[in-house]
Amino acid sequence: MKTNSRESHEGAKLPPGSMGWPYIGDTLQLYSQDPNSFFASKQKRYGEIFKTHILGCPCVMLASPEAAKFVLVTQAHLFKPTYPKSKERLIGPSALFFHQGDYHLRLRKLVQVSLSLDAIRNLVSDIEAIAASTTDSWVTGQVINTFREMKKYSFEVGILAVFGHLEARYREELKKNYGIVDKGYNSFPTNIPGTPYKKALLARKRLSKILSDIICERKEKRLLEKDLLGCLLNSKDEKGQVLSDEQMADNIIGVFFAAQDTTASVMTWIVKYLHDDPKLLEAVKAEQREIRKFNKENNLPLRWAHTRNMPITYKVVLESLRMASIISFTFREAVADVEYKGYLIPKGWKVMPLFRNIHHNPEFFSHPQKFDPSRFEVAPKPNTFMPFGSGVHACPGNELAKLEILIMVHHLVTKFRWEVVGSESGIQYGPFPVPQEGLPARFWRESTN
Ligand code: HEM
Repeated sequence: MKTNSRESHEGAKLPPGSMGWPYIGDTLQLYSQDPNSFFASKQKRYGEIFKTHILGCPCVMLASPEAAKFVLVTQAHLFKPTYPKSKERLIGPSALFFHQGDYHLRLRKLVQVSLSLDAIRNLVSDIEAIAASTTDSWVTGQVINTFREMKKYSFEVGILAVFGHLEARYREELKKNYGIVDKGYNSFPTNIPGTPYKKALLARKRLSKILSDIICERKEKRLLEKDLLGCLLNSKDEKGQVLSDEQMADNIIGVFFAAQDTTASVMTWIVKYLHDDPKLLEAVKAEQREIRKFNKENNLPLRWAHTRNMPITYKVVLESLRMASIISFTFREAVADVEYKGYLIPKGWKVMPLFRNIHHNPEFFSHPQKFDPSRFEVAPKPNTFMPFGSGVHACPGNELAKLEILIMVHHLVTKFRWEVVGSESGIQYGPFPVPQEGLPARFWRESTN
């Protein structure tokens, strides 16, 4: 691997592949069909590394575990994160995932501490209460949009991780305005009044004001909380500099963004996978009923130790993360000319490690289209299972995500039964893959509970 001047890469050639039309390139194909088949057909034709054009940018796609490790872990300093500017404006430019180096490291440590096992083990009963209040409104016999409901849950859990217990009026304001920002993420970026993007920008401004009020109140109270806001407020760099309100706000919105749709789409898939496999659902129910029975007899709430001992359910979560691969790929940009296995990745080109292809490669996961949690009885080979990414930007929220999913599954299978309504197949990309129309479903409370 060499990274200096272009001359030092004389022997290296660009990876194989077709660039398509300069601006449109392969974008239309990528966004209009199942990314699985898009990448798989390219991979079949060109191998594990190939070039293309996405959204006007020349791009190298990498479909092997070694290449993903090269970009995300061992040579991560040569590949910076890159997001569309329109998204950065909505989230806020100081959010950690737009950065590399010292600032990123400082913010990452704070986020990691606030989402560590030590911190989240205290959240079990609060998360269970959120699961209960979210599902309360589902049992009216009405068809619900599972994904939309799961978004409410993951957002509330996000608020809990960021602020601990937050006053209801602030929660409502955050929910209302963040909902408008959320609609802007995938809309056409324009300043024309009345468009979803412009509305999102205005809502983002209001969010800054709300967050600054919350921050101000917290500062006055001089509380030493361990939630994310507490960690951000107490942070000082080596020169004694504290974070500005803006830096804190951007990182809080960043966590909302990273935490909501991701977790909600995985939970929606789990509702579907369990519904589609009655035997598996029975096995999960049996495991969870055992815990519930014990708790009922001893008059106990669900506890952390239980969530660490749900082997069947846990494997269902892992297999759902693999099967749905809701983060199909990620983007980086080469900060220098880089050579990988004799191929040149020119400075400025985008680089995309393709998680989904790796998760669906029969070489690493036999019969990859089969939903089979038992495959996780054996640990996957290194770098073949990366639902939470890998390396310096790997997901610091992964334990919280798994915890809230386990708690929701416990709650659902011990207290409800459900039926998926309408078409039971089809995937929508928005941009995360979610079952068609958010998985319309009906829920009933189990009569024994
Ligand atoms: C099932 C749910 C989730 C999945 C599949 C997921 C997946 C990921 C992935 C793949 C990355 C790395 C992206 C990259 O390398 O470009 C990431 C980063 C991140 N995630 Fe998650 N995530 C989930 C839930 C959460 C939650 C619940 C939180 C916080 C409460 C969170 C916070 C973050 C943050 C802050 C980053 C950026 C880290 C950095 O740049 O250093 N995520 N996530």
